[in-house]
Amino acid sequence: MTRFLVTGSYGQIGTELVGALRKKYGGKNVIATGRKKPPEILTKDGPYLHLDILDPNQIHSMLVNNDIDIIIHNASVLSGVGEKNPQLAYRTNVEGGYNILEAARVLKLDQVMIPSSIAAFGPSTPRENTPNDVIMRPTSAYGVTKVFIELWGEYYTKRFGVDFRSLRYPGIISSEALPGGGTTDYAVEIFYEALKNKKYTSFLDKGTYLPMMYMPDCIKCTIDLIEADESKLKHRSFNITAMSFAPEEIAAEIKKHIPEFEMSYEPDFRQAIAETWPASLDDSVATEEWGWTPDYDLAAMTKDMLEKLSKKLGIKY
Ligand code: SER
Repeated sequence: MTRFLVTGSYGQIGTELVGALRKKYGGKNVIATGRKKPPEILTKDGPYLHLDILDPNQIHSMLVNNDIDIIIHNASVLSGVGEKNPQLAYRTNVEGGYNILEAARVLKLDQVMIPSSIAAFGPSTPRENTPNDVIMRPTSAYGVTKVFIELWGEYYTKRFGVDFRSLRYPGIISSEALPGGGTTDYAVEIFYEALKNKKYTSFLDKGTYLPMMYMPDCIKCTIDLIEADESKLKHRSFNITAMSFAPEEIAAEIKKHIPEFEMSYEPDFRQAIAETWPASLDDSVATEEWGWTPDYDLAAMTKDMLEKLSKKLGIKY
């Protein structure tokens, strides 16, 4: 059985990805790692180990001692936090990513998956239906680090035969763990506030379209790409998306379920970041090379999010 190590395991994606991988590959075959005390969900069906991604020796010994085949490197500083502390974004995302790729090279692991993001694009990128292969030139610290990871990973594939794979995640919406300081976080916060207070003040303005995806699709594309036949991959970094909406559109969708819900707008520094990112993505390369298709659109996602979150928070609507 393939053995996985997941960094950033208690993050928004990691928390649910570890659970999905454990279901499929067996609890003991998926090592969740991080630097914090883990939530119970990560320790009940499999091991959790303390790992500092800035310590190459610790990474190497953990991979060897646990007989790891595939690393999924999710630990990352996101766009909002990265803009406040670019040095932290550099160290965590560039040095951390480098350490992981080096370990995969030296130990000849089967595969290394490191997510990229819509943040890898920039103001000179065509914003509508952004193609997979296009000018990038991001202007956020986070985006610059993600372009580095894509290119360094692809270089390791070409030069050393490392099986590197990457997904340019759009904003991810989920009910289990909160996102950690990004520009798309409003699309998650809005659901908590709609249920708790029936109102939400968006930090992105009306008309700010961004590509988005619901967590079940995020888990699906991640596992599908990991399992994809390497001989079919012409690319290593892939656009993926499921929907694109602006704040007023998700608010209108929530209003269909919670008619009293009211939205107001107070754009902050994240508005400027969002304006440099694509409004929508063309993910046809992912569809062609490994069969990607999403299951959830805005309406289906909103309905399911409200149901799940209302159960979790114990708030009826
Ligand atoms: N969700 C991320 C962010 O907003 C985008 O990759 O930073």
